[in-house]
Amino acid sequence: MFELNCPSCQAPLTATDKNLRCPAGHSFDAARQGYWNLLLAHQKRSKDPGDNADMVAARNSFLALEHYRPLSDSLNRLAGESLTCRDNLRILDMGCGEGYYTSRLQEYLSNSGPETAQSTFQLAGLDISKHAVKAACRRNKAITWLVASGANMPVADGSVDLLTVAFSRLMPEEFARVLNADGHLIIAYPGDRHLQQLREIIYKDVRTSGFTPSAVLGDAFTEVSEQQVIYDFELKSQTEIQQLLAMTPHGWRIKQDVRDTLSQLPALTLTLDVRLAVFRRSGDS
Ligand SMILES: C[S@@+](CC[C@H](N)C(=O)[O-])C[C@H]1O[C@@H](n2cnc3c(N)ncnc32)[C@H](O)[C@@H]1O
Ligand SMILES: [Zn+2]
Repeated sequence: MFELNCPSCQAPLTATDKNLRCPAGHSFDAARQGYWNLLLAHQKRSKDPGDNADMVAARNSFLALEHYRPLSDSLNRLAGESLTCRDNLRILDMGCGEGYYTSRLQEYLSNSGPETAQSTFQLAGLDISKHAVKAACRRNKAITWLVASGANMPVADGSVDLLTVAFSRLMPEEFARVLNADGHLIIAYPGDRHLQQLREIIYKDVRTSGFTPSAVLGDAFTEVSEQQVIYDFELKSQTEIQQLLAMTPHGWRIKQDVRDTLSQLPALTLTLDVRLAVFRRSGDS
């Protein structure tokens, strides 16, 4: 089991059958679907934080097409290489969504991760959206699924060996707190050419984001490596095009005339360009 902390008083939580409890008596029941809800009311900025049910359903349908599978494979290999071989490794996927990458990582490390063949590990997926975590529970029962805030993760200081963050917000202080001294952070984020062809249809003026994780992470982390995963994939039907549009923020911003243009396309070839950056905590060797 992960070393979970009480979100209310930060003391360690101990598990009973269907319940987590801290020494001060704060108690959290397992949801019917099998996840732990460790998000306190005052940590929510809205009634229903994170991705809503429609966004989760759209991402689920799109990822089921497996166009992002090679990306997930690259992430898995990198995660396997980042782990030292030992027992009871703890891996946490922050902003896990409905657990596509988390679940494939669990299967990879269990079945074919050569670097970890001698190791045992615990994997947890954390997301602030209960819709996402409910969907994740249906995907994989071997993972500890948590509804919680990435800004206040209910895990003990220095208890995580590998933190993965795919297309989600970076929270440097909290990431540094939960990672142990040898721990690694892997970030997946869009490169300049990601979905370029779609952006060229949607925007008059296609801009690059200029985002670099090292600028956000600041001094707390040192970059170890970065690789680019780049390949073309084809959306083979209008249904697939609409599934991608429903998933990506680019799709949510479309004006009607562009939507009409896109609805006429029989197929669309797109570039996936994603960077995988590995960091370790600064000051550690
Ligand atoms: C773009 S999605 C990425 C999901 C998943 N990693 C993937 O790539 O399929 C971003 C996720 O971050 C979650 N999220 C947003 N704010 C969060 C927060 N403060 N703490 C934890 N998760 C958060 C959203 O609910 C959403 O599931
Ligand atoms: Zn407590």
